[in-house]
Amino acid sequence: MSRVKENLIELGSLGRKDGARVESYEQLDTDKGLWRLEGNELSKASKDYLVETMEEAGLEIRFDRAGNIFGRKEGTDPGRKAVMSGSHLDSVKNGGQFDGPLGVIGALEAVRVINEEGFEHSRPIEVAVFVGEEGSAFERGLIGSEVLTGAISYDEVLNLANSDGELLKNVLGDYRGEFLMDLGGVEYFVELHPEQGPVLDTEGIPVGIVESITGLYWLRVVIEGEENHAGTTPMKMRKDALVKAAEIVSFVHEKALDMAEKTNGSFVATVGRLEVHPSATNIIPGRVELGIDIRDVNQGNIDVFKAAVTDKVAEVSRVPGMKAKAQVLVDKPPCLCSGEVIEAIERAVRELGLEARKMSSGAAHDAQNLAGKVKTAMIFVQSANGISHSPREWTSWEDVETGVNVLTRVIKDLSG
Ligand code: GLV
Ligand code: MN
Ligand code: MN
Repeated sequence: MSRVKENLIELGSLGRKDGARVESYEQLDTDKGLWRLEGNELSKASKDYLVETMEEAGLEIRFDRAGNIFGRKEGTDPGRKAVMSGSHLDSVKNGGQFDGPLGVIGALEAVRVINEEGFEHSRPIEVAVFVGEEGSAFERGLIGSEVLTGAISYDEVLNLANSDGELLKNVLGDYRGEFLMDLGGVEYFVELHPEQGPVLDTEGIPVGIVESITGLYWLRVVIEGEENHAGTTPMKMRKDALVKAAEIVSFVHEKALDMAEKTNGSFVATVGRLEVHPSATNIIPGRVELGIDIRDVNQGNIDVFKAAVTDKVAEVSRVPGMKAKAQVLVDKPPCLCSGEVIEAIERAVRELGLEARKMSSGAAHDAQNLAGKVKTAMIFVQSANGISHSPREWTSWEDVETGVNVLTRVIKDLSG
């Protein structure tokens, strides 16, 4: 266990601008989270460390054309389809050290334990590290698993631009290769992850067994009005893009509250990004960009909401001299997990004498892409105080150990 802790602390340190090693909740600093955006220097240093650590475990490393990393351990019957497990290394802006790395190091630890025990498994085991999960650099998440499942082509993904206009292929540089993973050779995918919500922590249950993963819909809305002098332009003659953006922010929040109340309660919508141009106190904002995130495990609810938001955006264009347009960045339906993998997790939990509950994931994961191609499920452990996508994200070392133990059993079970 101590090596899992060391790997996670070291990866956390490699993701922080000041390199701080954070070993306990009390050491968290809200201004000093992780900034391991895909392709940046911190991300490269983290990949170097990870690949070295995977090689030490005897894994055969391959970088695919999009920068996904795979580490393979052969089974006694290489003709059988593999068990794949892993997650991502990239973080959100000012994020925490467990979202992603827990699933990567968990899978790696399972391999180390299997090596040490000399456990015989007939299926190969693949440890997977997906590129660009968070969408924090490229305004589109889950890109590594999207390319793997064929939802996006290698060319398209490599030519995605980040907010500085740099292309993924350029920021990845040498951190990609020629390998192409064929999911036809993979039977199961299982991902260990912090819950990133309050349910397990509040209920005092150590393990969540994920039955379904949220649908995800991202919109970029651009509103154009007219930049003008804040002192000389009479109130009635303004075309203020920020005022219209504010109406959309309120609409999204109020409508989402209403939908959550009237439906299954899992519906959520957020305006998490707002860019005001030119953003000066004495200038009427001429252009505003909004990033809207809409989620539910029920696709029908997402459809109703997106139609309402689209109408609201269209209203802005009816104001003389103003324009608004919405662009869909992500449209991912909800997914159901595999009964077979869920049963394997249930067996592991039972054998370890742990309490567990079934649940759905409100966070997006590469697992939801994989689920369309291979039998997939996820294991959740507690997020302290339900906080995530924040520098205050934490999972206790006890919960880390629990999650890794469950994952190890599941991988042994499915590969044996
Ligand atoms: C990814 O973590 C997401 O749910 O946005
Ligand atoms: Mn994650
Ligand atoms: Mn995340």
